[in-house]
Amino acid sequence: MIFLATHQGIKAWIQKTAAATLLARRFVGGENENAVVAKGLELKAQNLLVSFFHLGEYVTDKTLVDQTLASLKKTMVHARKADLDLHLSIDPTQAGLIQGTGACQQNLTRLARFLKSLERPGNLDVLMIDMEDASVTQPTLDIFRHLIQAGLPAAITLQACLFQTPDDLKSVIEAGGMVRLVKGAFAEDSHIAHTRKNKIDQTYLSLAKDMLHPDAIVNGFYPVFATHDHRLIQEILKTARKNQISPAQYEFEMLFGVRPDLQQELVQKGCRVRLYLPYGKDFWPYAVRRIGENPKNMTFLIKSLI
Ligand code: FDA
Repeated sequence: MIFLATHQGIKAWIQKTAAATLLARRFVGGENENAVVAKGLELKAQNLLVSFFHLGEYVTDKTLVDQTLASLKKTMVHARKADLDLHLSIDPTQAGLIQGTGACQQNLTRLARFLKSLERPGNLDVLMIDMEDASVTQPTLDIFRHLIQAGLPAAITLQACLFQTPDDLKSVIEAGGMVRLVKGAFAEDSHIAHTRKNKIDQTYLSLAKDMLHPDAIVNGFYPVFATHDHRLIQEILKTARKNQISPAQYEFEMLFGVRPDLQQELVQKGCRVRLYLPYGKDFWPYAVRRIGENPKNMTFLIKSLI
């Protein structure tokens, strides 16, 4: 999968010849800002919220970093006009982390300031920082803390697999911030992370319970559970009910195109469900990762190629 995702020849060929194919349509919200905002409105009609994500990862070219930031600003302007949340997801390496922590911090600060300038009461407007592999965990956390201290609307993704996450989570809960909890998509070393699925699931649930503790919610903490794991979701719902936490005080987040049945099941129960909605032209590495997570998605790839 890594070979398929990173092979420049395959990527260029697929993205040119098979753009707008089944695979891209299944997992990507559109090629540009207008298309993704239109998709956001379509999903809103189904009671689904969105988080906009500009495709591209581990960006080494500064010009592409600038293009990503400019595109996200344009998306925010369109989204505000359409009365959608200004909820952006961004990888630090899309915002210049490879060029340097200072450059990334400056870019994310500017982006968060722009978002803040468009903020509107009643909307959930926030810059959600994605968490990449463990080599960039610390600078990512440092930048997040910088944004919060500057009074900017930022939130952070934490990975249940990492040993350090319980401490990182505790500090954001104490500060009354917002955390998106994921299992972790990167194969990390066993001296820094749980590597067995059972253990990761068990840790996820234990952290989820901390996030739904009544004291955390009273403190202004906002939990986001990003998972498609039906069993974990049932446990989270049970804990929220037991702690008398209303569906408006937390949310579930899933990937656009993944488990639409489960998304609707939660909406029917009155839960807040947000979809991670990627857009842009560089869809191939993102789509391949979805196949890696679930080989059944290979069907979309095969159908798109024949
Ligand atoms: P798990 O992998 O156990 O899957 C549970 C169930 O969902 C299974 O039945 C499985 O088949 C199904 N499923 C999962 N993925 C599927 C797919 N692609 N297609 C079809 N079915 C699928 N990671 C990270 O390290 N940093 C980050 O910033 C983020 N950000 C992020 C945001 C959002 C909104 C989501 C939903 C996920 C992430 N992730 C992430 C990815 C996350 O760490 C994890 O790899 C995936 O969500 C898959 O884990 P699940 O919790 O869904 O459980």
